[in-house]
Amino acid sequence: MILVTGGAGFIGSHTCVELLDAGYEVAIIDNLCNSQRDSIDKIKQITGKDVKFYEEDLVNKEAVEKIFEENKIDAVIHFAGLKAVGESVQIPLRYYHNNILSTLVLCETMAKYGCKKLVFSSSATVYGNPHTVPIKEDFPRSTTNPYGSTKLMIEDILTDLHVSDNEWSIVLLRYFNPIGAHASGLIGENPNGIPNNLVPYIAQVAIGKLDHLNVFGDDYPTKDGTGVRDYIHVVDLSKGHVKALEKANSCTGVNTYNLGTGTGYSVLEILHAYEKACGKTLKYEIAPRRAGDIPECYADTEKSFTELGWKAELDIAQMCADSWRFTQNNL
Ligand code: NAD
Ligand code: UFG
Repeated sequence: MILVTGGAGFIGSHTCVELLDAGYEVAIIDNLCNSQRDSIDKIKQITGKDVKFYEEDLVNKEAVEKIFEENKIDAVIHFAGLKAVGESVQIPLRYYHNNILSTLVLCETMAKYGCKKLVFSSSATVYGNPHTVPIKEDFPRSTTNPYGSTKLMIEDILTDLHVSDNEWSIVLLRYFNPIGAHASGLIGENPNGIPNNLVPYIAQVAIGKLDHLNVFGDDYPTKDGTGVRDYIHVVDLSKGHVKALEKANSCTGVNTYNLGTGTGYSVLEILHAYEKACGKTLKYEIAPRRAGDIPECYADTEKSFTELGWKAELDIAQMCADSWRFTQNNL
């Protein structure tokens, strides 16, 4: 059985679908601090399979031990964490407490029960402002906010863990910008309040909840002056986790992979792709640059392709169409 921490969330729920479709048994631990219980029902509805759900906090050692007591956990995919960059600057202690302590409790419990295969959700944020693009896995790491620092620290903690005990098999996955939703329109990304991220924000403009998009800067040294990112369909990203799990099952060590498409799109390109998907013209205004943003970020995908046998397949049109379907069904 695979334990998925944060499995009720955006990427976790899609990954549970892919795991169940691939024939794995799945247990989820999630405290629902940033997700809803009905995503568990929707995972079951999409796959026609059952999942075990524990509504618990991963920092609660007794609760985590109980899960390992009740189930034979073969490997863990660890998504649970707080992820809002701006909020992490406002309430850093909450971010360090939640993201770091939950990982320590998880790893201590895994070690106690002899489960030493772990796939961890890291982020392209650990590359800081890269000196060049595309970004390779061996580029230097740095961060500019507490959220990013938790990712960097956890990468180091897991690496130290393997140094101390080489039976551990750890895969660090650095995601670029996951967007889109499941083709069923049942699960997707539905943040609380005003969205921080580009595509959820555009989705709310398209559905009429927000008036216009603020484009944060049009004077970057990029193709049209707006920020360039590597947007990846959440279903492609989830499939990458199944491949990462196979990797963890096949060898020990710490292996790090970028999960991106290798192609960068600007803010305006994404806006126009979304306009095509929803059939409307969407208003936007040029606003000042957002503090901490970098001009351009996209992945070198060579290593994940050669070592995991994985590459992204869905294009921007599909990402926007699936996001729009989910938005219409759920907002
Ligand atoms: P999400 O917020 O939708 O999912 C995270 C889930 O973890 C939520 O369901 C939340 O309730 C749960 N959770 C948080 N703290 C918990 C705790 N202490 N105990 C139990 N459950 C807890 O976020 P997501 O977009 O699905 O991201 C998943 C992971 O991927 C996160 O670690 C995030 O940092 C990382 N990541 C996300 C992105 C992105 O753009 N979405 C990019 C890079 C990395
Ligand atoms: N943007 C706007 N207007 C908005 C929101 C975003 O113009 O209302 C622009 C940003 O300036 C940036 C691009 O859209 O150029 C993408 O911004 P997002 O906030 O969607 O994503 P980021 O690249 O800033 O960060 C995301 C996650 C991080 C993660 C990183 C990894 O939020 O957690 O991807 O690459 F670390």
